[in-house]
Amino acid sequence: MARQTWLTGITPSGTPHLGNYVGAIRPAIEASRSDDRDGYYFLADYHALIKRRDPEGLRRSRLEIAAAWLALGLDTERATFYRQSDIPEIPELTWMLTCSTAKGLMNRAHAYKALVQANLDGGDVDADEGAPLEPDRGITMGLFSYPILMSADILMFRATHVPVGRDQIQHVEMARDIAQRFNHHYGEHLVLPEFVVDEDAAVLAGLDGRKMSKSYGNTIPLFETSKKLRKSIMKIVTNSLEPGEPKDPDTSTLFEIHRAFASADESAAYRQAFLDGIAWGDAKQQLFELVDGQLAEPRERYEELMAHPERVEKVLVAGAERAREASRPLLDELRSAVGIA
Ligand code: TRP
Repeated sequence: MARQTWLTGITPSGTPHLGNYVGAIRPAIEASRSDDRDGYYFLADYHALIKRRDPEGLRRSRLEIAAAWLALGLDTERATFYRQSDIPEIPELTWMLTCSTAKGLMNRAHAYKALVQANLDGGDVDADEGAPLEPDRGITMGLFSYPILMSADILMFRATHVPVGRDQIQHVEMARDIAQRFNHHYGEHLVLPEFVVDEDAAVLAGLDGRKMSKSYGNTIPLFETSKKLRKSIMKIVTNSLEPGEPKDPDTSTLFEIHRAFASADESAAYRQAFLDGIAWGDAKQQLFELVDGQLAEPRERYEELMAHPERVEKVLVAGAERAREASRPLLDELRSAVGIA
């Protein structure tokens, strides 16, 4: 079997939280230790520009996310870890792909269509014309062409496997379509990727019981101090059952978060404690101790790295050098294929 190349991008949009860790970072880091494949992990900072216009916030989030991945044990000897914006071949490939991608394909992107629909449903009408307002209102070309940039990320490194969340499956399928179209015009240069969705990856609930997500404001940051972590966990919403009354683990956010960190035995014991009527305060304390125990060491490494951003920088610069050893030859090949070499 041909050697596999796994690649995934992380958009720096905020401070990493427990949900990011359990759902994406932890499985990716485990996969990065595997010897039988090449791994590419990168900070998708060009993608972040689509959603945000605060330079300081972007810089900070990029540093926090890089530091978090390193602190949690990403093996950067094995895996190539870099910043998208350090690879000039990516925007160049983006343009080549843009020129052979049908606009109609982009019109079908779910993310774009949802925004258009929201504009149409807004019910706003032009006061004079009585006609619906512009369906593309508030939509930038960056957002519209987002799947092409993402395709360039993937195709640049001949990725065979792309681990993503469900919301990104369509984008990987578009990368296949885009590669196929390009190959049809210019010959077999690009590798068609497959998406990989981890069915077992936990989707963590947040403080209010809804999915933990920055957009709901219900997250527990991954690397806050032990004291703040305890405070956050104490804020998780429970019901009004008294100590001594049996509690249902399967509808409990506490239990769900616990299970994402515990061994099978620890989880079974926690379940039993629920059935035996543990007080909510005690259940929270136990959850805190479990999570805090696992995060203590990485937290120290994280704080160390945040205090020495130049160390993170060094790793990223080395990663970019390695990444470019792969991207430059393919881009040369493509320039020549399209006739601009
Ligand atoms: N768009 C992805 C997200 O928001 C991040 C991303 C950018 C990505 N480029 C990628 C993921 C390439 C996989 C492959 O989650």
